[in-house]
Amino acid sequence: MTEPQRDNFTVLYEIAQRINSILDEEELLEQVLENAMSHLDAERGYIVMLDESDQRGFSVVVYRNFGSPKDANESAASSSVINNVLKSGEPVLTFDALSDERFEASRSIVAQKILSIICVPLRFQEETIGAIYLDSTKSRGMFNTDTMKFLAVFGNLAAVAVENAKRYARLRSENTRLQSEISSTNLFQGIIGKSKQWKEALDLVQRVIDTDVSVLITGESGTGKELVARAVHSQGKRRDKPFMAINCSAIPEQLLESELFGYKKGAFTGANADKKGLIEYAEGGTLFLDEVGDLPAPLQAKLLRVLQDKEIRRLGDVETRKVDVRIISATNKKLHEEIKAGRFREDLYFRLNIVGIHLPPLRDRADDIPVLASHFMKKACQTHGRNVKSIASVAMSKLLSHPWYGNVRELQNVIERAVVLSRSEELAEDDLNLEQYSEEELVQTGLTLEEFERKLVERTLNETGGNRTRTAEKLGVSLRWLQYRLKEWGVPKDSSNGSR
Ligand SMILES: Nc1ncnc2c1ncn2[C@@H]1O[C@H](COP(=O)(O)OP(=O)(O)O)[C@@H](O)[C@H]1O
Ligand SMILES: [Mg+2]
Repeated sequence: MTEPQRDNFTVLYEIAQRINSILDEEELLEQVLENAMSHLDAERGYIVMLDESDQRGFSVVVYRNFGSPKDANESAASSSVINNVLKSGEPVLTFDALSDERFEASRSIVAQKILSIICVPLRFQEETIGAIYLDSTKSRGMFNTDTMKFLAVFGNLAAVAVENAKRYARLRSENTRLQSEISSTNLFQGIIGKSKQWKEALDLVQRVIDTDVSVLITGESGTGKELVARAVHSQGKRRDKPFMAINCSAIPEQLLESELFGYKKGAFTGANADKKGLIEYAEGGTLFLDEVGDLPAPLQAKLLRVLQDKEIRRLGDVETRKVDVRIISATNKKLHEEIKAGRFREDLYFRLNIVGIHLPPLRDRADDIPVLASHFMKKACQTHGRNVKSIASVAMSKLLSHPWYGNVRELQNVIERAVVLSRSEELAEDDLNLEQYSEEELVQTGLTLEEFERKLVERTLNETGGNRTRTAEKLGVSLRWLQYRLKEWGVPKDSSNGSR
């Protein structure tokens, strides 16, 4: 092997390695052109690709040392070299472009005093998909047949890499399309439920997703309020912006205020520097106010201003700042009652509750219990490396009749614990450790009198195996009273022998 051939071979090998790792078509072509030019010491160059949208049938994709894309395109258009190469699929090499009779007609060659030209097709599977063009005004015979062989092989390598990049781009866009299809058909991934009540709630969720309206999610603790709030954000148009969540009942008032609104340096002792609040951090996105019913009165007023004027003022600051945040709030309190008791501002309630979504307690949607249980069972098996496959029917009927005051969260915990403790592939009744609610607990859950009444009745019915006469006796009420109440709560008659 002669010296230049080995050199060419090494260069080809190196280039092939480099370009095959580039998946962006334009970046790849830049790299191809640069390598070709530097190896062949060309002065100017460009790569054209077939382009049906262009009337010439091709267009310049990348170029070097032309003043502008226009210059490169004009050069390509006025030169017959490109057309020749694209049509014949054969490379063209000139030893002396000015006296080469093939290019007599080409004004550009004469005008630009081009002495040497080399142009090779980019061929992929017998098809010409484009061409690499290089020229030089330095000397005649800059390029020779060795150069041409080199560039022809190089062109083939480049064509394969280009085709790869195109395929990759196609796959990627296909993939993006499929992904978005998945997320629109399976909008609420990981949110389980098939009961009529649950589907109605989700239907409402679906309708507010692409809007900016404030949404108030109500429901007992553990019914999935936060899960739904996150879904509204992550499926909606603000999904690429922040979701900021804060629990209004967990933080002392002073701290809550500075967390939400931020402060100016010196606003209070310890405020050593300006600080942005969560509302500002949520800019463009969503602010989730959990337990909004516990928001202290002064902050209710400040929040109302955010909703009305869409601006905030950091603590200790005189300046106001515009904010664009969507507000989703949640509470397990009955805000109507809080309003009546003077603990919650009615005007704020209306602003927060443009659309209200109520998540019913789990005991009112028994149809969801089996699907949720099996969902949590699979999840727990994955997390803990267990292999539980089913739930025994006795265990299932226990799950169905349990009052679930802790709702889905409680069910999740019960199932997870059972999966961990289970010794077989089927969850047994014994694996379930169902909470026996004590009266104190019932009182502590912040229930209204009516809710408390209902819980007590349900629990007693449970204890008596659904026997209404004995339940009435135990509770010290008349059977008629009991039946009246049950009817009011929509509990069917035949449930007296049943689970509740
Ligand atoms: N429909 C549901 N499908 C799947 N998981 C749920 C569902 N509802 C609630 N969960 C789960 O139950 C737990 C409690 O839900 P969460 O949204 O925190 O309730 P809340 O905010 O109402 O107290 C979370 O772990 C949540 O993922
Ligand atoms: Mg919560």
